[in-house]
Parts: sequence; C-alpha cells; structure tokens
Amino acid sequence: MVALNSEEKELLKAAQKAAENSYSPYSHYKVGCAVKTVDGHIFTGCNVENASYSLTICAERNAIFKAVSEGYRAFSEIAVYVDSDESFPPCGACRQVIYEFAPELQVIYANRNDIQKTMIKELFPSAFTLKRS
Ligand code: THU
Repeated sequence: MVALNSEEKELLKAAQKAAENSYSPYSHYKVGCAVKTVDGHIFTGCNVENASYSLTICAERNAIFKAVSEGYRAFSEIAVYVDSDESFPPCGACRQVIYEFAPELQVIYANRNDIQKTMIKELFPSAFTLKRS
C-alpha cells in the first residue's frame, strides 16, 4: 500500500467510479481507468466484454482511446481500479498503448484493499516503438 497525494486520490476515485460502468458478465472483473491530460482533463473508461471474448476492450485502452479521439495525447498520470482482492496492473496490450503516448507516465493501480504506484517504464521495459513523424 502506498500513499497518494490529493490529485492522485481524485484520479483513483474517477477510476473507481468508471469501474461501476464495467460490462463484465463473463469475467466479473469490474475495471475502471482514469487518465489525466497535462492540461488537467480527466478521461475515464471501463472494460467492455463480449460474448466473442477476444473483442473485449480493457478499461485502460478505452480511457486512452477516448482521450486521443477527443484530441488529447499528452498525459500526466493514469489510475486503474479493479473491484477485486487481486492485484491488477495493466495487461501487456495496455502497457504498449500507454507507452505509445506517455513513456514517462506514473501508473497507479489499486484494488479493494491495496494501492500501488509504479512507472510504465518499470512495467514495460524494452518497449517496441517506431519513429513518429
Ligand atoms: N482487463 C482490463 O480492463 N484491464 C487490464 O489491464 C487487464 C484486463 C479486463 C478485461 C476483461 O474484461 C477482464 O479484465 C478480465 O480479463
């Protein structure tokens, strides 16, 4: 368990609230994510599952894609919450997507009884990247 400052707490609260909208009738993992842009906007997302399992989208990618779709690409912080007792750092696919837009990002991930903080670089070393033009 780590301590959060007030901004981090606010972001985690937003992720927790987003988890309430989770559509997860198959896994029953309710996941929410909140990503903060460098100019202070917060975008949220939840996981949305499908009977064709591989079509499921994670909360993190939903939140980031919402932000990018609205014209925001620079992020200062991300928080992920799962309504479970299990630890839940972002999955590999989400790590790749987070890294694309924010290789220096701090990641907060929390469940019902624990909060952890790490850097995306720690979760996703030797990332695959291409030069952007
Ligand atoms: N899930 C996320 O939302 N984020 C992750 O980083 C890992 C997994 C979701 C996908 C699926 O709905 C459920 O958690 C179980 O895998």
